[in-house]
Amino acid sequence: MISCKEYAEIKKAELKEKIAGLGFTPKLVVIQVGNNPASNSYIAGKKKDCEEVGIKMWHIKLPEDISQDELGAEVAIICCDRSVDGVIVQLPLPSHIDPKKIQKHIWINKDVDGFRSDSPFDPCTPLGIINYLKYNNYDFEGKNVLVIGRSDIVGKPLARMLTDLDCTVTLAHSKSCLTDALKYKDIAFTCIDKLEYFDAFGEFDNNTDIIDIGLGRNADGKLVGNLNAYTVELANNSMSRFGGFIISGPGGVGLLTRVALLENVYKAALMRKGE
Ligand code: GUN
Repeated sequence: MISCKEYAEIKKAELKEKIAGLGFTPKLVVIQVGNNPASNSYIAGKKKDCEEVGIKMWHIKLPEDISQDELGAEVAIICCDRSVDGVIVQLPLPSHIDPKKIQKHIWINKDVDGFRSDSPFDPCTPLGIINYLKYNNYDFEGKNVLVIGRSDIVGKPLARMLTDLDCTVTLAHSKSCLTDALKYKDIAFTCIDKLEYFDAFGEFDNNTDIIDIGLGRNADGKLVGNLNAYTVELANNSMSRFGGFIISGPGGVGLLTRVALLENVYKAALMRKGE
């Protein structure tokens, strides 16, 4: 297995070349409402990635008190711009705005987040992880898989994509009995953004590969993976422990998600070109 960091660098170099051959500069618009510090930092990361591979990123910051209708109208207008390949509305949105209603204004051929159920794009976190595992020749066929978490943007699409790869998938969630669900799994994906959920966590089998996706803040306020206490103790952040391997934390899965977004923007640009 190559590391997530090495993989991200290889993929970005490949994308840079492919984008240079497009004949035009792909454009991504990121719409932010308000000034959430975590969103500011995610968007800064997206901008850096885009610059690296030759995508133009346009960051639109709208006031916190914008109404749902006004935001919907903004999104619709931006989608009409023919030079725009991808449109993202950064989450979280203020509580008076329903993200699902706003996402309906994003044209499906520009929904590079893959959040709409009819989007031709897969959501970036599941896509990034699966592409990374495929790159490392991970054999999915017939594997017994546990996905913990049923969000619309990670757990559910991940379970669907793994099923399509011929895995046998158990989709567990906050109401599941994990003692049963953990048994006899080849690979486990943890996708619940609540560290406390995993406090009383059962033991994984030594040979279970673990992809730790969900994040939370530990007692020191540091952003860490769901299983941080467990995985750091066992793996000390390395990629292997006994038979199984672990990918964890913001520097692992986060990088894969970022690469997948760039790949989706490139795919949208190819669609615009008619390829
Ligand atoms: N907020 C945190 N991650 C994401 C993401 O991948 N897409 C959007 N739209 N908002 C986010």
